[in-house]
Amino acid sequence: MDKLIITGGRQLDGEVRMSGAKNSALPVLAATLLASEPTKVCNLPHLQDITTMIELLGQMGIELIIDDKLNVEVDAKTIKEFNAPYELVKTMRASILVLGPMLAHFGEAHVSLPGGCAIGSRPVDIHLKGLEAMGAEIQVEGGYIHAFARNGLHGARYVMDTVTVTGTENLMMAATLARGKTILENAAREPEVVDLANCLNRMGADVQGAGTDTIIINGVDKLHGCEYTVIPDRIETGTYLVAGAITRGRVKVKNTAPDLLDAVLLKLQDAGAHISTGADWIELDMKGNRPRAVNIRTAPYPAFPTDMQAQFTALNCVAEGTGTIIETIFENRFMHASELIRMGAHIALEGNTAIVTGVEHLTGAPVMATDLRASAGLVLAGLVANGDTRVDRIYHIDRGYECIEEKLQMLGAQIHRVPS
Ligand code: UD1
Repeated sequence: MDKLIITGGRQLDGEVRMSGAKNSALPVLAATLLASEPTKVCNLPHLQDITTMIELLGQMGIELIIDDKLNVEVDAKTIKEFNAPYELVKTMRASILVLGPMLAHFGEAHVSLPGGCAIGSRPVDIHLKGLEAMGAEIQVEGGYIHAFARNGLHGARYVMDTVTVTGTENLMMAATLARGKTILENAAREPEVVDLANCLNRMGADVQGAGTDTIIINGVDKLHGCEYTVIPDRIETGTYLVAGAITRGRVKVKNTAPDLLDAVLLKLQDAGAHISTGADWIELDMKGNRPRAVNIRTAPYPAFPTDMQAQFTALNCVAEGTGTIIETIFENRFMHASELIRMGAHIALEGNTAIVTGVEHLTGAPVMATDLRASAGLVLAGLVANGDTRVDRIYHIDRGYECIEEKLQMLGAQIHRVPS
């Protein structure tokens, strides 16, 4: 397994371009299953999760054309199997996103039930209950979700118990081809939900209210093809900004969308960063100063994202003062804490709260990546630790960060990959 070796102590200074948003690209690729004509998706990040989604569509027998820029054209009507097998779903929970579109378009879907995952139990009950409210017959047997809608789905009003991003996306996609009106209440407001709705509307769907907690979808008979470019990745953006902040440096992030990061930028300013923004860039400058500890409480968008929690935990580890981090989305999302403690961090964990008191210096150590964002937190800590940090199991990082070592090197970091 590949490893990353980071020699800490370099103040980052430079510019870096962001990739397309993984969490938009995945639902948009799933949405191509709804169209009756070929659909082209552009600005896909080069990531393992994207490869997995493409593989999943390929395994269904769907014909795909991938160009040299990794733009993917999907022709859903070439589908031969309505099956998302365990072997792929177990490697990527977001595979569940094919359930709604496949069922709505073809009347049938067999999707392996995603298991638990490192950061929590992560059930999909809301996805299933929402589809049942639209008339689907669902059986869970032998580890698989078997869903049928032989006569198509119908519109429904459905109140989601919990705000769920992929749940909202699955139901929104299914509703585009359902008969009549669907009203999704307590919907996720994440920018990736809005991006998906924009893509669906480009395909001829009638989706209104995405970005608010009530989404109204008027079903249409069929969707046509389109070419769609996914938005920039706000979590990748936030991660590189924290890399600037933690090293007391200056980082300009280009090809991004500043208006999607309000909560993150506010916390970076609280930490002492000088932030300036343009239409598609954000610049962070610490002017050589040590960051100040910040208090964080994760919650659904537009509040502070759980996917940025580990990175801010790392930031607090070397900040001045004590910061409290409360994780409200996932029950087990502090696995980076014990690794950071091995690097000399002062972190007290109490349930869903981490109290982090900054230290002057972390010390490099061998550490283990446990999930995607936790590993980003460890890389960030490595950038400021004395000596070498070796991050193992970086396939987690490769699921969500395109060319992380090249991008950090361009900013002046000393980091390299050691192939296994
Ligand atoms: C998405 C993101 C992930 C991010 C998360 C929260 C993608 C591909 N992934 O994951 O990066 O960390 O949002 O912002 O977009 N829940 C239920 N029942 C359900 C569904 C969810 O109880 O049927 C719970 C989950 O266990 C969790 C909470 O709802 O506690 C939010 O999870 P959810 O928004 O669904 O996360 P994902 O969509 O899987």
